[in-house]
Amino acid sequence: MRTISCPAPIPDWVAGDASSAPRRGERLAVESASATQGGQGMAEGERKDVAGLLSVVPPGRTWSLAFSMLATTLGIVLLGLIASFLLVLSKAPARVHAECESAMDLARRLIRSAERSTFGAPAAERLHDTILALREFRHLEVQIQGGSGLGAAAQAGASGPLLLLHDTEATARRPPEEVPAWLLGWMGRAVRDIPPLRVGHHPLIGTVLVHPQPYDEAREFWEELRVAIGYHLMLFLLVSIVLFLVIQRGLRPLRELQTAFERLGRGDFSRPVVEEVPAELRAIHVSFNHTARLLEHAQREHASLSRQLLRLQEEERASIARELHDELAPYLFCIRLDASSNLALEDETPMEEVRETFVSIDENVSQIQARIRDLLHRLRPVDIDVHGWPEALVTLLDGFRTRFPRIDFNLDASGLDVVSDDTMRVSIYRIVQECLTNVVRHADAERARVAVRCLPHAAGGPGILIEVTDDGRGPPAQTAWGRGLIGMRERAQALGGSLDVLAGSPRGTRVMGRIPLPA
Ligand SMILES: Nc1ncnc2c1ncn2[C@@H]1O[C@H](COP(=O)(O)OP(=O)(O)O)[C@@H](O)[C@H]1O
Ligand SMILES: [Mg+2]
Repeated sequence: MRTISCPAPIPDWVAGDASSAPRRGERLAVESASATQGGQGMAEGERKDVAGLLSVVPPGRTWSLAFSMLATTLGIVLLGLIASFLLVLSKAPARVHAECESAMDLARRLIRSAERSTFGAPAAERLHDTILALREFRHLEVQIQGGSGLGAAAQAGASGPLLLLHDTEATARRPPEEVPAWLLGWMGRAVRDIPPLRVGHHPLIGTVLVHPQPYDEAREFWEELRVAIGYHLMLFLLVSIVLFLVIQRGLRPLRELQTAFERLGRGDFSRPVVEEVPAELRAIHVSFNHTARLLEHAQREHASLSRQLLRLQEEERASIARELHDELAPYLFCIRLDASSNLALEDETPMEEVRETFVSIDENVSQIQARIRDLLHRLRPVDIDVHGWPEALVTLLDGFRTRFPRIDFNLDASGLDVVSDDTMRVSIYRIVQECLTNVVRHADAERARVAVRCLPHAAGGPGILIEVTDDGRGPPAQTAWGRGLIGMRERAQALGGSLDVLAGSPRGTRVMGRIPLPA
């Protein structure tokens, strides 16, 4: 007998279970040679489809992850810098105010002591020296109005130092050009409420006014600010570069994953992705490799099943052709012979002879009818059309009971009205038929029990469970799957289900099939 090895079930290295020795009651060991032969890839068209799917990146205005991370982090740093800059700026007026006030206070004390002192140089000279000293003070501006100045001093025979004092606006300080006007305005506003210090009019010196002046402070502040901004910009740049490199490095495993997905799309399962990646991505890489192995296995199995399907189709066709030729042709030949001999008969040929040829024709025609009925039954179970569903199963069992009265056949069919799909009905019928044929041919059993039930609340979703058990000798330890078992499994798998042949308990064989109900 010719046998065909069955496509291998998913091996343990894929399913992740190392203990796989077949025991009684477990899935039988099956040959897997054909699963690995030639199933090296999906059809070219399918590959293109998958590759096409993978290459189609849906359009959308999305930023790259690296850019988003970089922009967010740097944005936060930048906001922090701006906030601290504004904080410093907001505190600057208070600082200027305090400095100017203390400078004005000092000036007030110095002028008062110069005016009151009775020691040393005359009062005018002391005041003159004090004013000269005050002009060197930061945060102060000394203004002289209405004095007779140089000329008057000379006329009065004043001594040298008085010559140094100049009248009026010429001595006013100019705002520093390098400091922006807004900063000067901001600083100036802080000292607006400090009143100027007016020194009583002196005939030679004139009226002396001492104003608070934030220019030096503003210049200093501006210098510090520029240095700080430059420093922070450099730091910002450095942080950006380091961050960019870190993110690029962090995203490398994702890029590798993308390349691996593209390879997968081309049907290349040869290279798994590395699993030594950062902890967050390790689970994804491990799952990817696992899925790739499953996919590779499924693809091989699919290719192997397709090849077997083609072969079985060809064998079926050859068998029908053989049957037509070997079984029907001789009967047709005989009918033709009978008919032509009838044509050649004389009028006076006895009726008995004529009848004989008709009897022969009748026998040959009924033989042909029987053969055609068998053939039709092989092509399609007519019971389903004639008796309906699920009564066809009852008729099937009845047929076996009639032909094999020594075996006790038992059927338990429930909830099968939900099966409305014709392909599914035919598949269930064929699986039960093949199981019973095997019982009759191989089991040497006394009892065979068929259970076909609808399980609406099964764990894997609603489906039909087919279970055929017998109390015969059981399957051999290494079952070579023939056309029957392969055909049953193919039918189940084609409908998204599964089929297993198990050793029965305590003896015999147990075939378990499960076909999910369409949603
Ligand atoms: N009910 C059974 N009892 C014992 N052996 C069985 C039974 N069903 C199947 N087998 C074993 O499985 C083999 C393959 O069966 P199958 O694929 O239907 O091919 P075939 O029936 O053409 O031999 C059989 O040759 C037989 O050894
Ligand atoms: Mg069989």
